[in-house]
Amino acid sequence: MSELFAVGVSGSNRPESMTKKLVSLILEEAKKLEAKTELIDLAEENFPLYDEDIELNKKQKELLESIEKADVLVLGSPEFHGTLTGRMKNFIDFFPYNKEPSKLCFFVSSAGSRHGGMQTINAFKTIASNLNYFSHPTSLTVGAKETAEGKITDEAVLKRINKIASEIIKWGKKFRK
Ligand SMILES: Cc1cc2nc3c(=O)[nH]c(=O)nc-3n(C[C@H](O)[C@H](O)[C@H](O)COP(=O)(O)O)c2cc1C
Repeated sequence: MSELFAVGVSGSNRPESMTKKLVSLILEEAKKLEAKTELIDLAEENFPLYDEDIELNKKQKELLESIEKADVLVLGSPEFHGTLTGRMKNFIDFFPYNKEPSKLCFFVSSAGSRHGGMQTINAFKTIASNLNYFSHPTSLTVGAKETAEGKITDEAVLKRINKIASEIIKWGKKFRK
């Protein structure tokens, strides 16, 4: 069987994004455990607003092909007004709908408040079920309590990153088509 393919997406618009850092760390750990990985940083991609007739460029089409081919998605977004960013939602609007339930998703959110992020995780789960994607119950939220000056200060966050990476390998294989 071929290597598991895990694609991570960061829905922040900031180059020094905490969301991007968290998604990248999860992918790095999953790679060490034998997954092929790819990171899509939406701050760099400038996707147009979704329109069914829109003509995407070659790079944008390739990124959506990666989403289509992925066995596992790690979707990360900062919490904006209690939900995911418009940038992330717009990108998801281009995702293929699965006829059969498939594609295992993990969710990550970075928030400004001490205990933020969970509303974004729940919004992601609602969207995933509408796309016929599976949501893994383990998610990662990081707020002001666990970070300082753009750095992770709580050891528990690093443990959770490792846990998610191992769950990607364990459950990704069971859920792949
Ligand atoms: C427009 C806007 C809305 C926000 N809304 C919330 C919110 O509802 N709850 C919260 O905890 N933080 C909120 N924040 C703070 C961001 O979630 C926080 O700065 C986050 O860590 C940014 O993630 P990033 O480093 O990946 O860009 C908001 C920030 C912006 C710019």
